Amino acid sequence: MSKNKQNKLWGGRFTQSTDAFVQAFTASVEFDQRLASYDIQGSVAHAKMLTHVGILTEQECTQIVDGLADILSSIEAGDFEWSIALEDVHMNIEAALTERIGIAGKKLHTGRSRNDQVATDIRLFMRDQLELIQSELTRLQTGLVGLAGEHADTIMPGFTHLQVAQPVTFGHHLLAWFEMLKRDSERFADCAKRVNVMPLGSAALAGTSYPIDRMMTADLLGFSRPCANSLDGVSDRDFAIEFCAASALLMIHLSRFSEEIVLWTSAQFNFIHLPDAFCTGSSIMPQKKNPDVPELVRGKTGRVNGNLVSLLMLMKSQPLAYNKDNQEDKEPLFDTVDTVLGSLRAFADMVPNIEPVKESMLKAAKQGFSTATDLADYLVGKGIPFRDAHEVVGLAVRLGTETDRDLSELSLEELRHFSEDITEDVFEVLTLEGSVSARDHIGGTAPNQVRQAVADAKKFLTQ
Ligand code: ARG
Repeated sequence: MSKNKQNKLWGGRFTQSTDAFVQAFTASVEFDQRLASYDIQGSVAHAKMLTHVGILTEQECTQIVDGLADILSSIEAGDFEWSIALEDVHMNIEAALTERIGIAGKKLHTGRSRNDQVATDIRLFMRDQLELIQSELTRLQTGLVGLAGEHADTIMPGFTHLQVAQPVTFGHHLLAWFEMLKRDSERFADCAKRVNVMPLGSAALAGTSYPIDRMMTADLLGFSRPCANSLDGVSDRDFAIEFCAASALLMIHLSRFSEEIVLWTSAQFNFIHLPDAFCTGSSIMPQKKNPDVPELVRGKTGRVNGNLVSLLMLMKSQPLAYNKDNQEDKEPLFDTVDTVLGSLRAFADMVPNIEPVKESMLKAAKQGFSTATDLADYLVGKGIPFRDAHEVVGLAVRLGTETDRDLSELSLEELRHFSEDITEDVFEVLTLEGSVSARDHIGGTAPNQVRQAVADAKKFLTQ
């Protein structure tokens, strides 16, 4: 008997504490309260549609709409009391509405479920965030194009294998970044099309027996159409995965810019100066000015890529239709939005303030035999097969290396030692300016082409 009692006592305690724990464990209100304004927007449209089809009276509708507006102001003012016992944003708001307006509040949930409600909220949220992201992307691209326009003639070394390869213009390099962002922006725009489809009306999974008008709700909420299948409507999170995939790739691009900026600000390269506002000092080494912003963005690429994998794994093997698993979609999604927006903002602020150190760029371009290909092309122009020309230039480069001189510093006599076809005019092609100007075709690094590309980009950004 005493054993039983003890068991019961223990069991009682266990059940009680487990319940409290499970309540907190399964609740999402701590993070999904971020969707509150979208939840209210969806509820207002739903109430208006229910009124239109005769399920709610005009008076009930007014009570609901006013009550929700009141709740929204108290949430925005920060004096709304969120309760874990009410689990999520949806039930918190519904309970508060009923508390304020009574019976009409209890009628709001007619013909819908939290399953279609949450899927709709996330899509409304994503729509806004995508717009913000696009505008930050445009701001960053505008900065890149502006800087590229100023530096269509600024010569720097172009690299392959991080070794000096051929001279390029700084403007051309910046426009390579512009092109990557252009594709990112296209991916977000494409994703936005599939975000803008309305799950509301799918109800729990099968639709509802009430005579709802989904076209009307979709119109009120600015969706392009209602989703075509209720089972898919409540369980589809493809749009969130697509968004995270586009974000992962964008961050990969930003990590590549970051890496170059970090390298270029180092004393070894000294290609650019970053304004103090984007750097921090060291607490121990007084001489340090560290490129923290690009380093941090490079680091943040990790979590955004991790979020993509989280969402992919979240959806893997989920049977139709809604499963509680889906509650786990929000944190990776929110974190992705915040990280992408923060990183874009930092870059958009920083890029127009990048100051190239032209002398260092020029010096570096001179050092790596970057006009070797031009010498080979010159010999080809004199009728020598490219492979033989390659061999001749290799020998000239070896002499340069041994005597610590660039190709343009070798004498005509020395050059002619490797090929009789070399004449005085060779020095024109051995200059860096001659080398970049020669690459004068669509997509090439010639200053002419960079100026044209800048003009095209500016037109594209303002259209
Ligand atoms: N908090 C839930 C989520 O984020 C809302 C939907 C819950 N639906 C349910 N039937 N438990 O997914």
